[in-house]
Amino acid sequence: MTPVHARIRSTGHCVPERVLTNQDLERMVTTSDEWIRDRTGIERRHIVSPGETNLDLCEKAARSALAAAGLEASDLDLILVATTTPNQVFPNMGVLLQERLGGHGYPCTSLEAACAGFIYGLAVANSLIQTGQAHRALVVGGETLSRITDYTDRSTCILFGDGAGAVILEAASEPGILSTHIHADGAYKDLLYYPSGISQGFDRLRESVDFIQMKGSEVFRVAVNTLSHLALETLEKAGVGCADLSWFVPHQANLRIIQAITRKLGLPLERVVLTIAEHGNTSTASIPMALDVAVRDGRIQRGQLLLFEAFGGGFTWGSALVRY
Ligand code: COA
Repeated sequence: MTPVHARIRSTGHCVPERVLTNQDLERMVTTSDEWIRDRTGIERRHIVSPGETNLDLCEKAARSALAAAGLEASDLDLILVATTTPNQVFPNMGVLLQERLGGHGYPCTSLEAACAGFIYGLAVANSLIQTGQAHRALVVGGETLSRITDYTDRSTCILFGDGAGAVILEAASEPGILSTHIHADGAYKDLLYYPSGISQGFDRLRESVDFIQMKGSEVFRVAVNTLSHLALETLEKAGVGCADLSWFVPHQANLRIIQAITRKLGLPLERVVLTIAEHGNTSTASIPMALDVAVRDGRIQRGQLLLFEAFGGGFTWGSALVRY
């Protein structure tokens, strides 16, 4: 039997219209545009307006990916939405998105793996396609981190933004997703987290609104080491070198994290897709958003070799090597 592979058929993304610039943040906390750009590479981020939700962003990103492929929702047979900021606990975001798009019957779910969620989604969809359980999957990363960001805490509020990115994966005779590598280590659970959850009961939520908690410099250090090793592991297993890579599409957490990784890899920054200045850190949405930007502006071309890599709260981390 001919082996089944999965390839990326199309991409889409969406950012909310509302923009929060570094100058806006200067008026909210003791910080400066210069400090934020120097330490993070971020110039602005998009955030949702009152009443706008993650599902709205995911729907727009999904419709944009469907339109790019000339497909309808009825052509899909799987939806996976990676997110840590779902509209509601259940139905899950995949089901809510299916209802918005107009499909019926096929499996839909959400995955929660913080900033690495999109890579986890890609790994799951790839496996389901390779084992014949799905033929065409919509994988979305969507977040509204602004809803859980403390805009009085200068160490976190400068980083995060909202947005959604989507890819359509489909069965193919030639490999598109060459490999995926996903990891987690709960020993780091206290370095980056959001403290509230339904199972803890509602008293805590009634007392005060919780926000993202982060030990920034420790996260930075572990992220650089972990992602540098992961990139080498991914390339080595595939028998390719950095020189073979057309584009590195990393999670956009901090420009300095990305620069440190590329230095360790010996990869020129010209071959890295960077959207951090415009989008900030949009968690699980950041890779599919960056991918779509570079596909639409013509940088990423069919046949090119791409490396995706992400790291997030947990810690969770993962990579994917892709022939686009
Ligand atoms: N504006 C001005 N000063 C700030 C500031 C801000 N927005 N945020 C922190 N500072 C100050 C600190 O209070 C500290 O001051 P002090 O020396 O007087 O105590 C100083 O800057 C240095 O703080 P530090 O936390 O060591 O800075 P840093 O160089 O590590 O940069 C981050 C802070 C958050 C930008 C950086 O640690 C980071 O990006 N970490 C990774 C976070 C991340 O990517 N999280 C998501 C992973 S998916």
